[in-house]
Amino acid sequence: MLIRRPSDIRPSEITDPALYRERRSFITGLAALGATALFPLPASANTKLPSVKNGAYRTNSAPTPYQDVTTYNNFYEFGTDKESPAILARNFVTRPWTVMVDGLVKRPTTFGIDDLLKLPLEERIYRLRCVEGWSMVIPWTGLPLSAILKRVEPTGSAKFVEFTTLYDPKRMPGQRSSVLDWPYVEGLRLDEAQHPLTLLTLGLYGEVLPNQNGAPVRVVVPWKYGFKSAKSIVRIRLVEKAPLTAWMRAAPNEYGFFSNVNPAVDHPRWSQARERRIGEFFKRATLPFNGYGEQVAAMYAGMDLRKYF
Ligand code: MTE
Repeated sequence: MLIRRPSDIRPSEITDPALYRERRSFITGLAALGATALFPLPASANTKLPSVKNGAYRTNSAPTPYQDVTTYNNFYEFGTDKESPAILARNFVTRPWTVMVDGLVKRPTTFGIDDLLKLPLEERIYRLRCVEGWSMVIPWTGLPLSAILKRVEPTGSAKFVEFTTLYDPKRMPGQRSSVLDWPYVEGLRLDEAQHPLTLLTLGLYGEVLPNQNGAPVRVVVPWKYGFKSAKSIVRIRLVEKAPLTAWMRAAPNEYGFFSNVNPAVDHPRWSQARERRIGEFFKRATLPFNGYGEQVAAMYAGMDLRKYF
């Protein structure tokens, strides 16, 4: 290999800065024209989000690199492949944004996103296991959902919590296709929603949530398959009956309401016994409840987890 030293390079071979700037603006112009799919630009730096590290929620595994966390996503509102959300959500506008918390509660409240961001937030490192067989380890920033539920005071008849993602096909191009019955709806039993592990999530890696990861606010439920962790939510409704979720509507034999990570119960089309941690070569064994059994298994005592999958 021939390596040239700087002294070997003639001034005429160095790009004139004016020409360089011209090329840059040409490339930026292309990007503005929608050519970003051809020339993906690096994700722009996000706003820092201060929080206190909660040492109780750590793991021995190294966090998945930021680059993978933010470019390998499932977010059908921005395309069905893993790469599209990072590109198609780049200009998604998340202000103004409110989350309405209502239904069977004594104090229905609409929270502005900037008020949520001012609450005391903590960082927790969680493993997230996708139903498709891959997993990541992500430092999330947020607050226990239970803190918000406490404020609205669920009534005695509230048994479940329903999460609804924004419905706006103008801003979410994936909603112009009928791949799912929009809006994306997910749900938890009330005790699951109140469980200390359930995180109302506003950031990751110490920054506000990147758009492709569910900005400006999502839930993260680490002992369940990733699809239970609904993104870009606008409504949290307390209800009496189990909500009909988007995935149950799409394929009820494949996606149950509980969707607890369970290596012993296969997806009808593939095994759930093993998973590939993004960034690793060899697969590893999937753990019951994604390794959070000690904290959550008691909530399912006596339930047949094959039936309630
Ligand atoms: N939320 C909405 N609104 N739309 C989606 O398509 N995909 C789910 C979940 N939340 C999804 C969603 C799935 S299948 C997974 S695995 C996780 O988001 C992925 O979250 P991440 O991209 O931040 O890793």
